[in-house]
Amino acid sequence: MILEYFLNSTPLLRLAAPSIGLRVFLPIARKLSYSIRSIAGLTVIISCIVNGQKQSADVNPNLLLVDFLRENLGLTGTKNPLDYGQTGACTILLNGKAVKSSMMLAVQADNCELVTVEGLSDLDHLSALQESFKTFHAVQCGYCTPAALLVLTELLQRVSSPTEKQIRMQLDSVLCRCTGFQNIVLAALDVAKVNATTRQ
Ligand code: FES
Repeated sequence: MILEYFLNSTPLLRLAAPSIGLRVFLPIARKLSYSIRSIAGLTVIISCIVNGQKQSADVNPNLLLVDFLRENLGLTGTKNPLDYGQTGACTILLNGKAVKSSMMLAVQADNCELVTVEGLSDLDHLSALQESFKTFHAVQCGYCTPAALLVLTELLQRVSSPTEKQIRMQLDSVLCRCTGFQNIVLAALDVAKVNATTRQ
């Protein structure tokens, strides 16, 4: 009972934070709360928007975000190469930023907006970048393709017409084992060119 009260007291602390300067300590308190919950075998309810749809789940505080997406939500486009994020194949967008979902816990995505490769298109239309990947055959085995699409989507949202250097730098976090980078770069450059033309 006392344990539950302590574990659920974080929202109260958050309310009090502005006045008593607890902001710095809240992430620590939250982490402590998750650790205790994990040891005690307790779960945490999280809510987030994934590909435009609200999702709520009762998860173990130790659950990785990549496992939450793949196992709980069935979004297997996000890859889990069990490489501690080195290949970047687990990349998703979290609040518009490219992040490695195998390096984050599902609880860290609470109240966030997530986009996986499944959310880049609807059933009838691919995104412009996906169309370009198709045109330039910017895939080989396809394993890294979701991550490449997501990091480039992030870039194109920030800079509508990026340079080749910006595209290559953005792809730095994604390792294509087939070394199929050239066509990926060409596909992204083509979208940048179209964006530059339509802006004029
Ligand atoms: S296409 Fe095979 S890993 Fe990139």
